[in-house]
Amino acid sequence: MMKIFFCLTAFATAGLFAGPTPVTYHKDVEPVLQARCQGCHRPGEAAPFSTLSYKDVRPWAKAIKAAVVARKMPPWFADPSVGHFRNNPSLSQAEIDSIVKWVDTGAPEGDAKDAPPPRQYVEGWNIGNPDVVFEMPIPFEVPAEGAVAYQWIVLPTGLTEDKWIQGVEVRPGDRSVVHHVIAFYRRPGSKWLLDAQPGVPVAKASGAPEGGMSDGAIGGYAPGIPPRVLSEGRAILLPKGSDLVLQMHYTASGKAARDQSKVGVVFARQPPRERAFGLAVANGRFVIPPKDGSHRVDAEVTLASDVRIVDFTPHMHLRGKSFEYRAVFPDGRVETLLRVPKYDFNWQLTYQLAEERVFPKGTRIEGTACFDNSPNNPSNPDPNAEVRFGDQTWDEMMVGFFGIVIDPGMSPGRLIERPRRESQSSE
Ligand code: HEC
Repeated sequence: MMKIFFCLTAFATAGLFAGPTPVTYHKDVEPVLQARCQGCHRPGEAAPFSTLSYKDVRPWAKAIKAAVVARKMPPWFADPSVGHFRNNPSLSQAEIDSIVKWVDTGAPEGDAKDAPPPRQYVEGWNIGNPDVVFEMPIPFEVPAEGAVAYQWIVLPTGLTEDKWIQGVEVRPGDRSVVHHVIAFYRRPGSKWLLDAQPGVPVAKASGAPEGGMSDGAIGGYAPGIPPRVLSEGRAILLPKGSDLVLQMHYTASGKAARDQSKVGVVFARQPPRERAFGLAVANGRFVIPPKDGSHRVDAEVTLASDVRIVDFTPHMHLRGKSFEYRAVFPDGRVETLLRVPKYDFNWQLTYQLAEERVFPKGTRIEGTACFDNSPNNPSNPDPNAEVRFGDQTWDEMMVGFFGIVIDPGMSPGRLIERPRRESQSSE
């Protein structure tokens, strides 16, 4: 569509038509904002202004131009020369040019009859109407100042049969203090957080909780992260009798606040063909020396069976500088799967492979993280600190999550072969 329009504009300015076709909001800009911005830029979502109407957008025209020209918005950090990702929201050059031209010619509204039909949003949810909502029964009081330990909240589901989750969305109660939420599930009989009263927050560091971690996470929240909606035929298993466990990371904002977050779930209408599951390459034993501007940390796992990998979610904290995933095939061939050259802690993005592939048994998945603990890193909370693995943002993490899909009847216990090897070096 855009391409065609641009050809026409080129003709028009070449004098074939009476005058140049003006670039207008309704005709040219609104379709782009609708497709690429409204997900976050609308009331109740993470972004600072709405893009639902001309009136909302007009005061932000110059800022929008600056953000799209710099490719700051929409947020996306994958090196375009490595791999293809189905959820890459980046604007085409033609779309950027069109926005620039619109702003430079006074950001005219144009004719409302040129507008695309408005998109329908369910108020308060991005996954459609949830089948069930699990909410913190009592609010958590976040102090005005100081570090807040991770809070763990057990929410019984009351499910009497296995359920397959198609979509899950974690909604913070008060965005100003919720740094992130991870929603796990806990199987019946698990010893994890056994002493916790349902709904009552328990303060404790994350690490590996005694009794072992649960079977895994079903979803999470961090600013600007879209909710998890799985493609048709694919779902996450929520075993009957499970509880949800929320890991809440609150950060004081200078003002005391109360938060009551919730998790909305849409169940699959039919039994799935594939079960979605998460694995990771992770290293928890690094030490980043003070002022080191380029500290490398590696981790790897070897696949114990053929595994279909569908996405990647690199996770580091404020000193995270870059992250890379590689596959080393059984024949020794190495392929880079994702490269994030400029990691940004504020955007915990998932990169979904355009072409989901089966990696054969024996493939090594490697992760390489680079940390910047120098004073040149503007986000660095303290360049003089020796930094280790930990929960708080002034600690670090090195986790390369990767999403896989398996046969719904298969046990996820047999997916990884050897214990991971961890290594690090400073350059
Ligand atoms: C994934 C969510 C998301 C998407 C998609 C997104 N934004 Fe944003 N945007 C944000 C958030 C959150 C902020 C505030 C934090 C920041 O500035 O980094 C922001 C900030 C901005 C700002 C800066 C405001 C300022 O303070 O100067 C502009 C301009 C902007 N977005 C434009 C856009 C445009 C145009 C699009 C679509 C082409 C878009 N955004 C898509 C989440 C998003």
